[in-house]
Amino acid sequence: MSRGMLVAGNWKMNLDRREAIALAGALAGVAKPSSPVEVGIFPPFPWIVPVRDIVANLHIAVGAQNCHTDVSGAFTGEVSAAMLADVCDYILAGHSERRHIFGESDETVGAKVAAILATSPRPILCVGELLNERNAGRAEEVVARQLDAGLASVAQEDVERLTIAYEPVWAIGTGVAATPDDAQAMCAFVRSWLIERFGISGGDLRILYGGSVSPDNAATLFGQADVDGALVGGASLKADSFRAIVAAANA
Ligand code: PGA
Repeated sequence: MSRGMLVAGNWKMNLDRREAIALAGALAGVAKPSSPVEVGIFPPFPWIVPVRDIVANLHIAVGAQNCHTDVSGAFTGEVSAAMLADVCDYILAGHSERRHIFGESDETVGAKVAAILATSPRPILCVGELLNERNAGRAEEVVARQLDAGLASVAQEDVERLTIAYEPVWAIGTGVAATPDDAQAMCAFVRSWLIERFGISGGDLRILYGGSVSPDNAATLFGQADVDGALVGGASLKADSFRAIVAAANA
């Protein structure tokens, strides 16, 4: 299989400056240049630059957790993908906390993906259903809707820059991950959607699973055919647990 894996740590709004720098330094040796497993970390905005300086020689990619849809302008408090392009390898778009706490619509998320693709970082589009949507048998319908809108304006030549993260909302921060079978089933659904939309190159895209990934469940999740890594929240805040998850991806 040509697509490598990605283990991405989403630090969310956690860690003060000293803690962020300490954690970045403690990740020395986690990523191996010879390994097909890529490692990335997503610090809060103000720590992106100092963290990047620390991990620059550690083969660890750095990403942002969000961006604005415009390049510049009167948008107090916002940061554009074009600005982040200088300091980031990746930018998340449509994380469930952006969608459900900050009210980002599917269309806004699509505009963010387009804004990221217009610059140099690679977008990671996050999709995933709520518990009531899953219980109602609508999980695939919801994920397909988010993919439709999130990738609406992606040109064929940009397809290979995409990564998708399937994160069922009910699994995020709850300690209850999707079962490996359920994670695999939805990641396979996402892959078939990508192939239908983008052809064979869509099938080569990395699809991550996210939601309560831990050192205990990572190996089984990574053993699934269509799970190409993880977006890790809580377990990425401790060097030991993040290291163990990366090790599971390498095994
Ligand atoms: P979690 O978060 O690992 O703490 O469940 C995952 C995420 O929100 O990306």
